[in-house]
Amino acid sequence: YSGVDEVPRAPVVTIMGHVDHGKTSLLDHIRKAKVAAGEAGGITQHIGAYHVQLDKGMITFLDTPGHAAFTAMRARGAQATDIAIIVVAADDGVMPQTEEAINHAKAAGIPLIIAVNKIDKENADPDRVKNELAGKDVIPEEWGGEYQFVNVSAHSGQGIDDLLEAVLLQAELLELKAPDSGPASGVVIESRVEKGRGTVASVLIQSGELNVGDMLLAGAHYGRVRALIDENGKQVKKAGPSIPVEVLGLDGAPEAGEQIQVLPDEKKAREVAEFRQD
Ligand code: GTP
Ligand code: NA
Ligand code: MG
Repeated sequence: YSGVDEVPRAPVVTIMGHVDHGKTSLLDHIRKAKVAAGEAGGITQHIGAYHVQLDKGMITFLDTPGHAAFTAMRARGAQATDIAIIVVAADDGVMPQTEEAINHAKAAGIPLIIAVNKIDKENADPDRVKNELAGKDVIPEEWGGEYQFVNVSAHSGQGIDDLLEAVLLQAELLELKAPDSGPASGVVIESRVEKGRGTVASVLIQSGELNVGDMLLAGAHYGRVRALIDENGKQVKKAGPSIPVEVLGLDGAPEAGEQIQVLPDEKKAREVAEFRQD
């Protein structure tokens, strides 16, 4: 990487956990509180990820159903996630998919933070969650372990700022960096073909800068970037590290977890794409 200047980049976070423990509610709450608030009357659209700008830093959330995205990406060797938030409902406790999510994150070597959700409920028992997880080697910091536990309510919003702070604290330890200029590379979050728009691919930039007009290779597909659209539905000219963006202009829909890469010319992009299609 000599000659390439790396700069700090935002952490990319995936939320995982057992069914109905509140993953979507938590993501929705964060998004509404931190994204939509700044966009008067803004129409947010689903692109599989969004980012929030806080006083102390930026955080990018992958909001595709946690496991599916994570598994698809891992299967392709793509490491899009820096930090996993494991949601555990305080009234339900540790369940099979909680353990599965923890195992996924640990196997991928990704630090995890425990969000003990539904703390507003009368029968919430956060200490039980702590005990159950400690018994599975996920020991809270306050008990001498290495894991941050944060009590939250996706309904009232209680604790959510603390959760975001915990993410930024964890991110600081990771010292995440990437070049913010030069040809972009990244990963496909999801993609589809839409009438009138053609292929719409949501991608996460991991390195460099993606610009309108760039020749982009995405898995076995390629094309010149015709437009870039952010999570608020706004056209943008470029996107840098840890920024999710919709790309128009590919000749087909790449799969989640496939790599994207800007190439110098169309001939090269076509060659690689055709080779991959065989
Ligand atoms: P799946 O995607 O189906 O696995 O569920 P999920 O983990 O995304 O959970 P979801 O956000 O759909 O929430 C499940 C149910 O719990 C919904 O009825 C929510 O309204 C409720 N819920 C989520 N968070 C809270 C909370 O903090 N407090 C209370 N009281 N209810 C919550
Ligand atoms: Na649900
Ligand atoms: Mg959900």
